[in-house]
Amino acid sequence: MKSLVASGVALLLLASSIGPGCAQDFKGAIDECTKEFEMDMDVVVSLKYGDFSERDPLIECFTECLMKRSGFMFDDFSYNKTLIIGFAGRYLEPEGAQYVYDNCVDKFGTTVCVTGFEMYQCIHETAVAEWVESNF
Ligand SMILES: *[C@@H]1O[C@H](CO)[C@@H](O)[C@H](O)[C@H]1NC(C)=O
Repeated sequence: MKSLVASGVALLLLASSIGPGCAQDFKGAIDECTKEFEMDMDVVVSLKYGDFSERDPLIECFTECLMKRSGFMFDDFSYNKTLIIGFAGRYLEPEGAQYVYDNCVDKFGTTVCVTGFEMYQCIHETAVAEWVESNF
C-alpha cells in the first residue's frame, strides 16, 4: 500500500512537471539525458518511480544530468531554491516544500555524479515522505 502511495506521488511529480506553463522542463531533461547516456528505459522508469536500488556510476551521472538539465542544480553544485521549493510546493504545504529543500540541499557526494544522484534521491524520498505525512 505504501509503495502504491509512493508511486501515486511519483506520478503526480511527473505529471505536474510536464504541465503547460511550467518553467522547467523535467520531461525534456529526462528525454535528453536518456539519449545522451544511452540509458536503459527500465532504469529510467525505476528512477522516475523512486526505485533507487540500482545504482552505478552511469546511473549516478544520468541523475546528475537530470538535475542540471531541469535546472535544479547549477554547474557550481549550488541549487535553485526557488525552483525546488516551487516544484515540491505543487503538492506539499509550504512548510513541507521548505523541508524538502532544507533536508536535501546539503547532501554532497564524493563525486559530481554522486551528488546529483543523492540530491535526486533525497528530493524524491523527502517529498514522498512529506506528502504521506500530510495526507494520511
Ligand atoms: C530558478 O528557478 C526559477 C523558477 O523556475 C527561475 O525563475 C529562475 O530564473 C531560476 N534562477 C536561476 C538563477 O536560474
